[in-house]
Amino acid sequence: MRNITIAIDGFSSTGKSTLAKQLAKELAYVYVDTGAMYRAVTLFAMNNNFIKADFFDKKALINSLPKIKLEFKYNPELGFAEMYLNGENVEKQIRTIEVSSFVSKVAEVSEVRSKLVEQQQEMGTNKAIVMDGRDIGTVVFPMAELKIFMTASAETRAQRRFDELRQKGDNVSYEDVLKNVVERDYIDTHREDSPLVIADDAIEIDNSYLNREEQFTAVLELVNEVVKKV
Ligand code: DC
Repeated sequence: MRNITIAIDGFSSTGKSTLAKQLAKELAYVYVDTGAMYRAVTLFAMNNNFIKADFFDKKALINSLPKIKLEFKYNPELGFAEMYLNGENVEKQIRTIEVSSFVSKVAEVSEVRSKLVEQQQEMGTNKAIVMDGRDIGTVVFPMAELKIFMTASAETRAQRRFDELRQKGDNVSYEDVLKNVVERDYIDTHREDSPLVIADDAIEIDNSYLNREEQFTAVLELVNEVVKKV
């Protein structure tokens, strides 16, 4: 079976990573969560006081970019790779609501984007990869053989995110999570560099009313169709 590149883009909390992980496991492909990379850069900015409530020292972050080393290390117990920032496992720290509230601002910075896009393209040179993010089908791998664009209503996504955070013991309110989802949608779709748009050749999946299994089966069928053609 030929190896292909699978790009999964879409709004936040649409279940992109769940689907991407399931596909990677089924196909024995590498899975790359590019959101984790933007989150790790955000954590670096927070740890160095480059970003706070109403303050963002973009220049300081840009100057420090060469000092930021991002790696994915596979964790066999979890069955997927975890994010390391300068040698430290930051998988938990990058999923907090604080990081979520700053990450879109960091992802607007062109210098950050070009550094991460370059690293992402290198990871995909051998294909056999499922990558999820916002610009994978449009910027990172415009030639990807299969592009999926995932959507769901803001309320559905906020509820999923809220349940996830509560389960982890984060004491957030649904209103704050919804506000964060709506704000991120706005920034992600309106930024100048690589805004979130659906690629012309992407297949859109609205999963507001689809369960995980239905979605996975539908996408796996698409993969099989594409693989037959390449
Ligand atoms: O997928 P996520 O919610 O973990 O992504 C976190 C943020 O990173 C999101 O608000 C947008 C940004 N992002 C991006 O701009 N480009 C990507 N390829 C992935 C994420």
